[in-house]
Amino acid sequence: MKVLVTDPIADAGLERLRESGNEVETAYDVEGDALLDAVSDANGLIVRSGTEVTEEVFEAAEDLVIVGRAGIGVDNIDIDAATDHGVIVANAPEGNVRAAAEHTVAMAFAAARSIPQAHIRLKDGEWAKGDYLGTEVNKKTLGVVGLGRVGQEVAKKLNSLGMDLVAYDPYISQDRADQLGAELVDLEECLDRADFLTVHVPLTDETENLISHDELAKLEDGYLVNCARGGVVDEPALAEAVEDGTMAGAAIDVFADEPVPEDNPLLDVDDVIVTPHLGASTEAAQENVAVSTADQVVAAFREEP
Ligand code: NAD
Ligand code: MLT
Repeated sequence: MKVLVTDPIADAGLERLRESGNEVETAYDVEGDALLDAVSDANGLIVRSGTEVTEEVFEAAEDLVIVGRAGIGVDNIDIDAATDHGVIVANAPEGNVRAAAEHTVAMAFAAARSIPQAHIRLKDGEWAKGDYLGTEVNKKTLGVVGLGRVGQEVAKKLNSLGMDLVAYDPYISQDRADQLGAELVDLEECLDRADFLTVHVPLTDETENLISHDELAKLEDGYLVNCARGGVVDEPALAEAVEDGTMAGAAIDVFADEPVPEDNPLLDVDDVIVTPHLGASTEAAQENVAVSTADQVVAAFREEP
């Protein structure tokens, strides 16, 4: 069987596919007709977040059995079109959870202590010690929007560093929240009480722009961290809320449009710190998701569960 890989994944995953007797072709950064051409004779397609797997891709890929997503979010894959074409979509839901949670914690601290801003000024020769008076997380309240795998891991880590927990997730049980020591509240109360708000929901019709002008106004003087999905937080509204001082700052790893175009308003605001979708970018996480995705592709070819 032929597997086309259109976003880079760890070698261990490619090896696993080859060891199982499959032909592997890598074609990174292909889009449009080049993608349609590359996928036309593929039986398996493996992507991360860089490839949009649209209806057109499924139409072009007549022999496709499975699309493997080497990561969690499947918002770049048209699931309805996959279903219409009888193609399996499989993600790797666990392998990068710790990496994403650690990045979220790092981003929260980096924003609270202005680490990137101070770093740049010192590298430029400026000793700006007097300009940065940070915020401690100890005894502050963390609001978690989306208490799934990553949200729970972030909650545990920051709770152990002295934060109280409130969470908004209409689909999680009170028992699970109790085990974490988190109080389940509605979105409004979560925003009102949070000093730091961290977002861990998938991007769906329901969560698109879930956090916009009105919600950000409730986060007065607080920080927002988004290492989940661009599009969940309204970017122009966030840029405005931090720029005009309504909020203290924000830390953003994911964007509505990636790679981020230069005119994204978040890039112009000093107290919005940014990384280029690095949440899952650790060696361990990449190996985990690559192997798990490859295993699922092989299982699908063998008609195994
Ligand atoms: P998950 O499915 O385990 O958890 C998502 C949680 O969101 C669930 O508990 C669900 O009940 C909740 N939820 C769904 N709709 C909601 C809504 N409208 N309001 C409130 N809660 C809602 O997913 P996860 O593994 O924790 O991943 C969370 C997000 O992080 C995903 O978007 C994933 O793609 C993203 N992610 C990003 C990176 C990165 O590189 N930055 C890495 C890993 C995961
Ligand atoms: C994910 O949803 O797992 C992340 O987007 C990680 C990634 O593939 O970069």
